[in-house]
Amino acid sequence: MCGIVGYVGEKPVVDILLEGLSKLEYRGYDSSGIAVNCDDKIETYKAKGKLQNLRNLIEPIHGKLNKSSYGIGHIRWATHGSPNEINAHPHSCNCGKLVIVHNGIIENFKQLKEMLTNCGCEFRSQTDTETVAHLIAHKFGEYNDLKKAVSEATKQIEGTYALCVIHQDVKDTIVVTKRNAPLIIGIGENEHYVASDVPAIIQYTKKAVYLEDNQIAVLTPSTMELFDKNLNKLEPKVEILPWESMSLSKMGFKHFMLKEIHEQPDVVRNILTDKLTGCDEPIQLNEVKLTKDELKKLNRIQVVACGTSLHAAMVGKYIIESLCSIPVDVEPSSEYIYRKTVTDENTLVIGVSQSGETADTITAIRQSKARNSHILVITNRPDSTMARDADSLLPVNAGIEVSVAATKSYVAQLVSFYLLAIYIAEIQGKMDKDTLTNIKNELVILPQKIEMILAHKENIQACARMYSNSRNFIYIARGINYATALEGALKLKEISYINATGYPAGELKHGPIAMLDETLPVLSILMSGMVYDKILSNSEEAKARNAKMIALTDSDDENLKELFDFIIKVPKVQELVSPILSIVPLQLLAYYIAEFLGKDVDQPRNLAKSVTVE
Ligand code: AGP
Repeated sequence: MCGIVGYVGEKPVVDILLEGLSKLEYRGYDSSGIAVNCDDKIETYKAKGKLQNLRNLIEPIHGKLNKSSYGIGHIRWATHGSPNEINAHPHSCNCGKLVIVHNGIIENFKQLKEMLTNCGCEFRSQTDTETVAHLIAHKFGEYNDLKKAVSEATKQIEGTYALCVIHQDVKDTIVVTKRNAPLIIGIGENEHYVASDVPAIIQYTKKAVYLEDNQIAVLTPSTMELFDKNLNKLEPKVEILPWESMSLSKMGFKHFMLKEIHEQPDVVRNILTDKLTGCDEPIQLNEVKLTKDELKKLNRIQVVACGTSLHAAMVGKYIIESLCSIPVDVEPSSEYIYRKTVTDENTLVIGVSQSGETADTITAIRQSKARNSHILVITNRPDSTMARDADSLLPVNAGIEVSVAATKSYVAQLVSFYLLAIYIAEIQGKMDKDTLTNIKNELVILPQKIEMILAHKENIQACARMYSNSRNFIYIARGINYATALEGALKLKEISYINATGYPAGELKHGPIAMLDETLPVLSILMSGMVYDKILSNSEEAKARNAKMIALTDSDDENLKELFDFIIKVPKVQELVSPILSIVPLQLLAYYIAEFLGKDVDQPRNLAKSVTVE
């Protein structure tokens, strides 16, 4: 993951780099660093931990460093070497004149390191990145041309990278390149910016160039030259970013996660307003670029995703199979890409990703595209790599999600799957119209129901208080809410570090039941419908082993009080649509438990919002 920024121009460099890094903190936050020119030398400052530590380090010399004319910065999510000051970027060559920041993984770094060590390079860190600094410096010694050095070095590198390179003797110049990692160049008046993502530069400029794989750009204040990997000159494709400069605020909430949970009713409303003009009207999904005939011919859908997006995909499978009778396979992207998958031109491959930058999912959709499948991407980032690779792009428009634990983007992905399933079903014309109209009616009133849950969150807070000392948690459900159990458990794990696991309730007796005793809370997702009685029986089995029982239910059955120690009540909802509602109390439960435990809710340890490495 990691975030990188660069600036060359007359504005205060350090302010731009630090501000840019703060906007990229979602990409990693275990250490950070900057390098700028100062008194004809390149000076590097690095700090372990949050960005604030780097700010504190620089504070005494901030004014002086701000007079620099070019610089690069990095915020890290460790892949090679623990998160300490030495492993933090920027990294430099032996003499310290050439300095780089890197996002990605250098797969052949061991071979390169051996070769470079034999050439006299001295390694200080445990990172893969340092080999690149030495390698480019080595090539610079040979060619005395920084872009040529970068071009030659990258020919020897295997892996993924976005790189910013500066050299003490090549004044006011940043050389940048990338392969399978995002990098954007911002164009200002007599200045250039570079960053892993738009938020780092949008407050300064809307004119930008998205660098493509293997391109090399040479940036000075007044010029931007673009080359292919063999240094043939290219014409940059300048775009106007469809973004507004934004200051992200918690709006009075203690954490971004809590704010984002509260935004969910509006997120659902927004998506529906665009696509669902009336419950008797067909869904409008002009974004789907398959013709009606192609949609009717679909014989299979494969959905690839990771983490929370994978759970949204599981609900998607259920709903598409229910409404469209098309077989749907859901697979973690990281598994999909390392096996032979059977796809053809009648297979639709759907990539789901909040960030649109998840490395495994990008690889998965690219592999399927090579097999001629149509690629539909469901993402919250319509400017992302995945969105650019898509044949059909379904943006979920949840707005920027800051909290590393995904909440509103999940609900938005769910709603998108419902709309897609109804859209396909309407084109197929096989499903009876009333069923589809009923689902649409239910979707339209969902925002109010979510608001009712949010209005009674004290009950969930009380539940969190009661169980926050548990070291383990089990979530059980069946049918369409099995994915909700997985997602609820993932939320709790991510932000509280409690060992939480989701199971299909029927599987409990096939092993996990051995763990049950009076110390273990079992949360049953008990929504009215086809599997209600089944889950009730499975809950009885758990109760008989003395587990502490929690129900999440829309049922009014008073008898539940005998079986359950705690009941979280949600409004009545149709079973098929219930995952959009039932996840909300589980997000809140995870939030309040983590908050009671004093955890860093928005930036949990070891995680990053955008996972750009395999
Ligand atoms: C969600 O809370 C997690 N941060 C994580 O599981 C995430 O969903 C996963 O890394 C996939 O990310 P994506 O949706 O951006 O592809």
